Amino acid sequence: MAMSDKLPRFRTLFIALMLLGVALALGVASLIYKPSTNNGLGSALVGGPFTMVNQSGVTVTEKSFAGKYMLVFFGFTYCPDVCPTELQVMTEALEQLGPEANKITPIFVTVDPVRDTPEVIKTYVANFHTRMVGLTGTPQQVAGIAKAYRVYYQKVENPKSPQNYTMDHTSIIYLMGPDGTFQKHFSYETDPAKLAQGIKEILDIQ
Ligand code: NI
Repeated sequence: MAMSDKLPRFRTLFIALMLLGVALALGVASLIYKPSTNNGLGSALVGGPFTMVNQSGVTVTEKSFAGKYMLVFFGFTYCPDVCPTELQVMTEALEQLGPEANKITPIFVTVDPVRDTPEVIKTYVANFHTRMVGLTGTPQQVAGIAKAYRVYYQKVENPKSPQNYTMDHTSIIYLMGPDGTFQKHFSYETDPAKLAQGIKEILDIQ
């Protein structure tokens, strides 16, 4: 009798303690983990206001691109490999989207404003998509937009030929919404079909 009386009580206490433990764990987890949409970058942390100069020498801000999605990639025109590859991937993905691609502005942002003048960028982006926008600016402006997009870049000196330095940089393609908010990012080596598919999912098209 005593056993059968006590067991349910112990069981109830045990379950109550378990639930308390789970509740505490969830509480702690919610403090540590800030939920974000689509990815682990933290959507609210990527993007924001910027002031840059486009390939025609015109000053533009994030408002200049409002109303359309932005497909953004940071790099530099002297990049031997990664940048041209990624810009080509962006171009091919947009071509695969057909007329829907008109909802998207492809944007190349330089992390090397010293060499990438508007004239240099104009010639460069012309190699890729016909509507591709190239952005440069003062070193401070470039630092500002890179910070907003959480993009890392670093000059790598070339002792043998100082003018031919290179730049380390983040190689991520960002898809931003018509209101400028972060939608999705694509890692380096995403192929054009996968990029097009990822864009379709965000634009909600088949
Ligand atoms: Ni590059």
